[in-house]
Amino acid sequence: MIASHIPDLRVRFCGIELRNPVLAASGTFGYGVEFEDIVALNKIGGFVTKGLSREAMAGNPAPRLIETAAGMLNAVGLQNVGATEFVKSKLPAIRNLPCVAIANVFGTTIGAYCAVIQTLNEADGIAAYELNASCPNTHNGGMVFGTDPLMLHELVQRAKAVSRRPLIVKLSPNVTSIAVIARAAADAGADALSLVNTFLSLSIDAKTRKARLSHGTGGLSGPAIKPLALRLVYEAAHAVEIPVLGMGGITTAEDAVEFMLAGATAVQVGTASYADPRAVERIAEGLTKWCTRQRVDKIASLTGALEMGPRPPL
Ligand SMILES: Cc1cc2nc3c(=O)[nH]c(=O)nc-3n(C[C@H](O)[C@H](O)[C@H](O)COP(=O)(O)O)c2cc1C
Repeated sequence: MIASHIPDLRVRFCGIELRNPVLAASGTFGYGVEFEDIVALNKIGGFVTKGLSREAMAGNPAPRLIETAAGMLNAVGLQNVGATEFVKSKLPAIRNLPCVAIANVFGTTIGAYCAVIQTLNEADGIAAYELNASCPNTHNGGMVFGTDPLMLHELVQRAKAVSRRPLIVKLSPNVTSIAVIARAAADAGADALSLVNTFLSLSIDAKTRKARLSHGTGGLSGPAIKPLALRLVYEAAHAVEIPVLGMGGITTAEDAVEFMLAGATAVQVGTASYADPRAVERIAEGLTKWCTRQRVDKIASLTGALEMGPRPPL
């Protein structure tokens, strides 16, 4: 193949250039370094770290992961080492990784979110922050912010004021109007949006008459949510001017293309890494083949290229 026929997979958002639009999603790729010997990190766009809080968190007791038809329910409860320990023990190794690293951030109060950002501001090696305003699995978790446009506006405005890096706001799918929530985040100064986080759900063991997860409810992810996520990404992308990172059930390169057509500039892959730890790399490589076969020269041209006729009212 001659060089000019190799498709250009590079994408840009918020001043960050990715070699291709595939990132590993938060909570499914540890702190990146754990995957160094499994995934060729120089073949993927990047990864988002597990959510970081001000102090370390142990998460919820087991069982906290349940397989379900075409997906997975989790209630990990945001287990993490805490922002200070992250900077000390994880970030030095992350800096040497050959792909973009984004830090996922959360807190139970606006002040706690800002404190994490301020701790991370002091350190090199992070391209952007992803503000988790959408976790369904902790009491007082981010979802209380992500489902109320006024609270989300205040959170994003204050987080943006202290942030020295681009701020990506991760939205919850558990809302009535994603367009209203997306606009609230954009109006408050978000540099980009990412969606979707998991869908609030429940798995029951009929024999014991108990919830299968110790936490009770959990978050549904994986192929089961893909059509739901595509609709939400489409609506969010058409409601705002800022870039959107799409995710929810992506397991193949063609799934990734579908999210880009719906309006995503880049995509994230989460649950697929549980079934196939190399999924992120496989999907990134699959995009080269897909674009070559479909004669797409620049993958960025796919963003928002869905031909859908008149748009539904947002
Ligand atoms: C086990 C697990 C842990 C997760 N932890 C986080 C987290 O810490 N922060 C976050 O923003 N999203 C978290 N997520 C949500 C994923 O990043 C992603 O938004 C969601 O799973 C949908 O994508 P998928 O269907 O490809 O998994 C987690 C998901 C799973 C399955």
